[in-house]
Amino acid sequence: MGNHPGSRQLVSNASVLGQILPRIRGISGGRHAIWREKHTIFQEAGWDGLANVSIIPRLRTQIWLSDAAAIKEVTMSRARFPKPVHQYRVLLLFGGNIVASEGDEWKRYRKVAAPAFSEKNNKLVWDETVKIMVDMFHTLWNDAPEVTVDHCIEITLPIALFVIGVAGFGRKVSWKDDTVVPPGYTMSFKEALHVVSTGTIVKAIVPNWAMGLTKHFRHVRDAFKELDNYMFDMIRARRESEKKEERYDLFSQLLDASQVETEDGMPQITDRELVGNIFIFLLAGHETTAHTLCFTFAMLALYPEEQDKLYKEIKSLMPDPTRLPTYDEMNSFQYSMAVFYETLRMFPPVNGIPKQSAEDTSIVVGNGSGDSVAIPCPKGTYITIDTPGLHYNPRYWSDPHSFKPERFLGDWPRDAFVPFSAGPRACIGRRFFETEGIAILIMLISRYKVTVKEEPQFANETFEERKARVLAAKPVLTLSPTRVPLTFTKRE
Ligand code: HEM
Repeated sequence: MGNHPGSRQLVSNASVLGQILPRIRGISGGRHAIWREKHTIFQEAGWDGLANVSIIPRLRTQIWLSDAAAIKEVTMSRARFPKPVHQYRVLLLFGGNIVASEGDEWKRYRKVAAPAFSEKNNKLVWDETVKIMVDMFHTLWNDAPEVTVDHCIEITLPIALFVIGVAGFGRKVSWKDDTVVPPGYTMSFKEALHVVSTGTIVKAIVPNWAMGLTKHFRHVRDAFKELDNYMFDMIRARRESEKKEERYDLFSQLLDASQVETEDGMPQITDRELVGNIFIFLLAGHETTAHTLCFTFAMLALYPEEQDKLYKEIKSLMPDPTRLPTYDEMNSFQYSMAVFYETLRMFPPVNGIPKQSAEDTSIVVGNGSGDSVAIPCPKGTYITIDTPGLHYNPRYWSDPHSFKPERFLGDWPRDAFVPFSAGPRACIGRRFFETEGIAILIMLISRYKVTVKEEPQFANETFEERKARVLAAKPVLTLSPTRVPLTFTKRE
């Protein structure tokens, strides 16, 4: 690798051992290195690309990138830099799917899934999100003048779940207890959806034979089975129903595609693959969305002046707060979108996007002084698109540690912003998230002011201490906020 700067260490960061060991020079990089370091390691090395070499579990060459042009080249060249699909093996427990596949198989899934994420689906996402928020204010919050949550994900996780429930699976779930358990089932659809969305890690890492060992494992195992059954029952019911109503949830759209035959008389997608892909939408979209919303509210609480600007925009576009916003207005809420983008820049849910080199090649990277160098990239090299490294790179973002939504108004460096990845394998649910997010933000901020919950034990902390406490996060499945305690106070 031309002895290009980077780490030379015994244990790979990507290995299980590498995730357990602390940072020891020459031995291991320590946990959460990407999130902890952000752009610092690139700054120290003098290049926006690092060549890392480790020998345990096997000799491994790795390139980490925080250079926008290099990242663009990697994400655009799908054949030269495919996804290392073996790293996604755990996701195959749902059946073959769009996230964990490559080559022709991926192409087929993408072709079937892309039309489902349509404008009609986006409108459904918007309309249903608005209803879920209205229901939250009335049913969960009882229209109280002040509501406090100990951790904001208490509300953002259920909201995201309900939205994917209705706009993804085509089943309404809400704040009221849906405890109806149909004959032949042991849990309601809502419970199965909730347990599956929170139990994926358990299902992925605990071997099948051990899933009966504890009550929690059994509950997760049963929820997967039940949700699977619900999906197959839904497929049967829709196929048998006389009345073919127009439905725009992702499930119905994929179901329609499964009726279309390919040239060789096979369905475009089998029922098992249909279910596998709907499961993966739940997994890919639920936590990323809920955590981003949580960080957004945390930032707005910490920066009241930014919240005021946001409120002003909402008020100017929707002077009557009792009127519900409509989907065709969404694009006018530019400051709201800027708030999300700035949050996604600072807290990208996916910290490292993995690729692999399919051939002996090289990758050109630059630095802050305007120099460039080609890093030799042997076939098989793991490439990590380091999102925090790119998003905090001062070459593209001035004052990168400051929360400034304005930077996303007007011209901004699009290639240096990849929270949804880029190129042909970019997130298919981006507009789904943006639609849901804007609807939630408008509904909430038009009615409530968000502040950090006052707690006596933190009464004397400085702003910097408060910021560090409220924004504490670590990458688990996706970047996860530790604890975001907030108060929502009704506006006059
Ligand atoms: C803040 C919200 C979201 C973020 C930050 C995000 C981020 C990403 C990223 C970085 C990738 C590329 C992953 C990789 O290469 O391994 C991705 C892919 C994907 N995302 Fe999202 N996502 C979000 C929301 C959603 C939602 C709401 C859905 C579905 C409803 C979704 C469905 C998918 C799918 C299916 C893929 C795989 C696409 C493919 O490989 O062709 N995402 N997302």
